[in-house]
Amino acid sequence: MSLDLDFVRAQFPAFSEPSLQGQAFFENAGGSYTCKQVIDRLFRFYTQRKVQPYADYEASRLGGEEMDEARTRMAAILGVETDELSFGPSTTQNTYVLANAFAGMMQPGEAIVVTNQDHEANSGPWRRLAERGFEVREWQVDPGTGHLDPAALENLLDEKVRLVCFPHCSNVVGEINPVTEITALAHAAGAFVCVDGVSYAPHGFPDVGTLGPDIYLFSAYKTYGPHQGLMVIRRALGELLPNQGHYFNAGSLYKRFTPAGPDHAQVAACAGMADYVDALYDHHIGGGEAQVSPRGQIVHDLMRSREVEALTRVMDALKDRNDLRVIGPTDPVTRAPTVAVDLGRDPVAVAAELAGHGIMAGGGDFYAVRALQAMGVDPNRGVLRLSFTHYTNDAEIDQLLTALDAVL
Ligand SMILES: Cc1ncc(COP(=O)(O)O)c(C=O)c1O
Repeated sequence: MSLDLDFVRAQFPAFSEPSLQGQAFFENAGGSYTCKQVIDRLFRFYTQRKVQPYADYEASRLGGEEMDEARTRMAAILGVETDELSFGPSTTQNTYVLANAFAGMMQPGEAIVVTNQDHEANSGPWRRLAERGFEVREWQVDPGTGHLDPAALENLLDEKVRLVCFPHCSNVVGEINPVTEITALAHAAGAFVCVDGVSYAPHGFPDVGTLGPDIYLFSAYKTYGPHQGLMVIRRALGELLPNQGHYFNAGSLYKRFTPAGPDHAQVAACAGMADYVDALYDHHIGGGEAQVSPRGQIVHDLMRSREVEALTRVMDALKDRNDLRVIGPTDPVTRAPTVAVDLGRDPVAVAAELAGHGIMAGGGDFYAVRALQAMGVDPNRGVLRLSFTHYTNDAEIDQLLTALDAVL
């Protein structure tokens, strides 16, 4: 079965927005279009429920219920318990809170492993723990391919390591890392695992429960939703780490790592991401009683297979060119459609030229400064990044390839 792209695109108002006609969007890794289910819920919250939630009057009760619904349904898709999912302002903010919590749990001299493949969000907050007496070890990418070799991690693990942080997928290398295998290595050494899923989740929500990490982070504004950071923190770790919220909220697992008051409307609107998954499932597979976790997996697989098909065309066009270097693997099956290329010249200027051909793309370091440096790319110059998702159609891929031929 293949994805019905007409149906998919009908779920996104941006595709019928007059001012965006003729514009093909290739900066999805920066933030996706928003599905109408999310927009509708956001509008409804602001127009009908914009009161303090969780009281007994109708508007308040409905607002609170919708916030709970978002957590319950997204947690089910992610294969975890409802209170193992929490919402914060952004993934970077969430990581800073988590790093502070680890600092409160670890003993001086204990260690954390970080990578130089990550976006700074899952790197800098942890590296700063060095200033507080903890050892930080760097798991380094292969400078040619950007690959993170699990065998190299094994050499960094010993009884001092409390946490291993790595990306499910880097936002410039694009390779999908084997989360379950890496998690097993870390767990065998007695370490917890924190995975940055920001660049993976837009390509299909993963079953985090089956994948196995203790922490899984992603950003809803890249998964068709509002500007929120979602955080899975498995119970055993969440109850061990010191509470970062108000002392009287320590008994609620989902409140322990979100010290700020939540953005009620955006949390509620996150249920629209679950509506979108359901809409895709119902359209392709049929209605009936929801088995939530398999639904998520089926929709994930539908998205991925469409992406691999489209990415094959892009990679075939790019991989043999001698005027650019593709960062990361060229096999579409092993990577996300987040394709960074080093042009050896200013990518911002090239992105501007592409804009003249109706291509919306960007250039720069994308906050993956360490990964670019490790691969010999000058981060001050940066890369051109072409990123898309399951909703990108063949006409847009054609438009991209024609535009690249014209400007490169
Ligand atoms: C891979 C990756 N991790 C983390 C982040 C940071 O997410 P947020 O903007 O929610 O802090 C980004 C943002 O671009 C990202 O691409």
